[in-house]
Amino acid sequence: MTSEFLQVATVIFLHLDEDFGRRVASWLETPQSKEETSEDEDINDGSEGPPPPHPHLNQLPSKMDLQASLSLIFFTFTAVFSLFSLSLFIIRYNPCCNCEVCTAFITRSWTSEFVNLSDWYTHLLRKSPTGTIHVHVLNNIITANPDNVEYIIKKNFDNYPKGKAFSDILGDLLGRGIFNVDGNCWRFQRKLASLELGSLSIRSHALNIVVEEIETRLIPIFKTVADNDAVLDLQDVFRRLSFDSICKFSFALDPGSLKPSLPVSELESAFDLSSKLCAERGVTPSPLVWKIKRLFNIGSEKELKRSINVVKRMAGRVIKERREKGFGSGNDLLSRFMGSISDDDYLSDIVISFLLAGRDTVASALTTFFLLLTQNPKVLEKIRQESDRVIGGSNDSLPTFGDLQHLHYLQAALHESMRLYPPVQFDSKFSNQDDVFPDGTFVKRGSRVTYHPYAMGRMERIWGSDSMEFKPERWIRDGEFKQESAYKYPVYQGGVRVCLGKEMSLVEMKSVALSLIRRFDVKVVDPDRILRFAPGLTATVSGGLHAVVRRREVPE
Ligand code: HEM
Repeated sequence: MTSEFLQVATVIFLHLDEDFGRRVASWLETPQSKEETSEDEDINDGSEGPPPPHPHLNQLPSKMDLQASLSLIFFTFTAVFSLFSLSLFIIRYNPCCNCEVCTAFITRSWTSEFVNLSDWYTHLLRKSPTGTIHVHVLNNIITANPDNVEYIIKKNFDNYPKGKAFSDILGDLLGRGIFNVDGNCWRFQRKLASLELGSLSIRSHALNIVVEEIETRLIPIFKTVADNDAVLDLQDVFRRLSFDSICKFSFALDPGSLKPSLPVSELESAFDLSSKLCAERGVTPSPLVWKIKRLFNIGSEKELKRSINVVKRMAGRVIKERREKGFGSGNDLLSRFMGSISDDDYLSDIVISFLLAGRDTVASALTTFFLLLTQNPKVLEKIRQESDRVIGGSNDSLPTFGDLQHLHYLQAALHESMRLYPPVQFDSKFSNQDDVFPDGTFVKRGSRVTYHPYAMGRMERIWGSDSMEFKPERWIRDGEFKQESAYKYPVYQGGVRVCLGKEMSLVEMKSVALSLIRRFDVKVVDPDRILRFAPGLTATVSGGLHAVVRRREVPE
């Protein structure tokens, strides 16, 4: 962490340096050049004889003084800021704790054995008799104990809000959107959104969007890749697909990011950059670091502001157009919410929250699903057999809404895949009051508490000695899919704030997976490589996940 801190500090100062340099230059240049122009005009006013001594020549030394003073101010500011951040870091995180876990965290010695922080936490949680650990330097209690999880997200829900620290980080992007608020504001949106997302009409609308995206964009891309013996980054394609789908679903807007040329959509890039930079705020040693950068509009905060503006401008434009046209007939979420909400900024916040919640999660789940299918060809074969039985033998037929309900093995395989690779690897809340977890862990007021679906999916004490194997059968009882407790499997959270898009995401993932599995052989290149995840809100494989694609030979 110390080295992380130093890295962050160095990067900040470099940015500060760059920006301040530019600012100092502009402070000095703008007035100067204006004055020079006016002086030139004066000099060339037609009067005879040598021009009088330039009055500003006498002021040159004072300009240099000004430059020197500004440099001094800048360096003093940098030094003070540096010390200030360091002391905040010390006060906030107690980096003096020298317990084994904290020492390994601070010195990053865990990286000699583990590729991802989540893998190291899994190792520690497996060793812990209670399934709970405390990283003192982060004031973070991490648990993989289902009783604790149930306690946090259901039984004592009111004591564990998302908290101000979290909502500050995402606040500029998500505003008062459902994903980012607690209390009454959350309750109101939750009620409204559950009502809308529960309706049959919106579910079939969601399926229509996905089917259109699959038929007109996804399949043609896979055919082209297959016919050209090319390699394709599954993660990139699934991110594009889920972005198009969630934008159409939420706003009735088509960013077209899965069009054949795989264009760079301004909205998608701005949205990606905004969520990445917001996530990076979360790893700064103190929130004051990014807050100060935001105040001065410098470095990554300047970039963040710019990209958020692109997203918000687009949302504002769509809302304005919809108000003008009338929203009565629209099936998308925005049209549905417009009837109940008249504040357009609030409306924009709500819909942007849906983009964040529904985009990367689906793409992440689909990406690792195809990795596991490459590693487990028998499971792939069983999915094909089941789909032939339920949908029929023609590879081109897409499943109907009814068919999807009968694909138990596919449903099991998707759940099993997210057990090992949950799209949201961990989720944190903050404790309002002193408390005690069911396993006896004392939770001090203000502590961060984290439940860890990634570690939980890999615990023998929860899933048995074969916990690391990919076995969809563990979800099947008497030939049918059987749901496990959400506290043992909090992949969609569970309890009071359970994911609102769960059913919709399963429909989307099943449709995409089947349409590819039935028409193509998709094989991930280098399937045994150890996955490294990029830091962020949702699990993203560093470097993507490349695959080769062949059209499937279907017996006549
Ligand atoms: C595989 C796909 C998905 C997974 C694994 C997933 C997982 C989650 C998780 C863990 C949360 C809790 C986050 C938190 O409170 O910090 C959540 C919340 C939420 N999800 Fe999903 N999600 C998925 C897809 C979707 C989709 C497609 C949508 C939208 C249509 C969606 C909408 C939401 C919303 C609105 C919330 C906030 C609920 C609330 O705060 O009351 N999710 N999801």
